[in-house]
Amino acid sequence: STPALIDPFGRKIDYLRISVTDRCDFRCTYCMDEGVTFLAKQQILSLEEIVYIAKTFIAMGTKRIRVTGGEPLVRKNILWALEQIANTDGLEELTITTNGSQLRKMAQRLLDIGVSRINISLDTLKADRFHALTRRDKFQQVIDGIDAVNQLPFKRIKINSVILKQHNDDELFDLARFALERRMDISFIEEMPLGIITDHNRAATYLSSDEVIERLEQNYTLTRSSMTTSGPTTYYQVEGYDHKIGVISPHSHNFCDACNRVRLTVEGQLLLCLGNEHAKDLKSVVRKHSGDPQQDTELLKSAIIDALALKPHKHHFNLDETPQILRFMSATGG
Ligand code: GTP
Ligand code: 5AD
Ligand code: SF4
Repeated sequence: STPALIDPFGRKIDYLRISVTDRCDFRCTYCMDEGVTFLAKQQILSLEEIVYIAKTFIAMGTKRIRVTGGEPLVRKNILWALEQIANTDGLEELTITTNGSQLRKMAQRLLDIGVSRINISLDTLKADRFHALTRRDKFQQVIDGIDAVNQLPFKRIKINSVILKQHNDDELFDLARFALERRMDISFIEEMPLGIITDHNRAATYLSSDEVIERLEQNYTLTRSSMTTSGPTTYYQVEGYDHKIGVISPHSHNFCDACNRVRLTVEGQLLLCLGNEHAKDLKSVVRKHSGDPQQDTELLKSAIIDALALKPHKHHFNLDETPQILRFMSATGG
């Protein structure tokens, strides 16, 4: 059998994030420019190729897969691919991160397919502000989507809020209450500098997670929780509620020592770290056919093992400099 994927720093890699499209029906100001251009069809992996790579990772010990975008649910036939991945022996959970716009019509299908956890981005509870932040007028559609998944027995629903000083930091408590009262978790995220965005000043809008927690403590009694998804979120128990508040602090509390993940971009690059360029092109590997499928799969497996050796120790983000990483978050899915 294939050995577990271990990186040069001894970290066990059993979590894969797959960005299934760079496209999105929103244009969040911190994520993309309004005039962003998307990849052409011939540049991106087909769903069959994505499923094949996912299954190969699962055969190599990957236990959890999170499907992201862009907005994953706008990719045509995505439910077919999710079902293929969900039904692969050895996978413990299939999760998605979405902007919520398609959830109302897809909630039931996602549950039936076996998606267990859904993370939904929501940065504000004010419709006009939502329009300003996402450049699209779909606030109610997202709220309806959240309500739709909430009525179904998913294992866990989490709200993600990127907190930007002077844009939505006055809504910390309202966002937390919105999530907790609907029996959802919520993560407050420090923005990461991915891609150059012309009309948004990241250094000026930075608010540290410590400050977020400090402000929330004016309303809630919070206790550090031992709960973890082995991801970047530090969770807090909230007195009086079953659900949790989390913070994701790429700037103020580096979490890279516990990293368990790699990312597949829709262009077929295996990215070893969100905050570094180290990558291995898997698209060219899956497009080479020797005539012997078993041999092709062995070649893909060795490409993945070779790639792991490139995984860097940590990200180095600096909000005062021009971003080192030119790819946008939408090309990687966070
Ligand atoms: P689980 O661990 O599966 O529960 O999900 P998550 O909270 O890590 O994933 P989600 O897609 O909801 O992403 C939330 C935020 O975490 C986004 O801003 C991501 O960019 C960020 N994030 C996720 N993984 C990493 C990572 O490895 N490094 C960094 N720097 N940020 C990450
Ligand atoms: N920094 C941090 N989080 C980001 N997201 C999008 N762009 C950034 C960024 N530059 C968030 C989205 C979504 C999650 C996948 O990542 O809001 O919740
Ligand atoms: Fe789309 Fe998410 Fe980027 Fe917003 S943050 S534009 S919802 S990919």
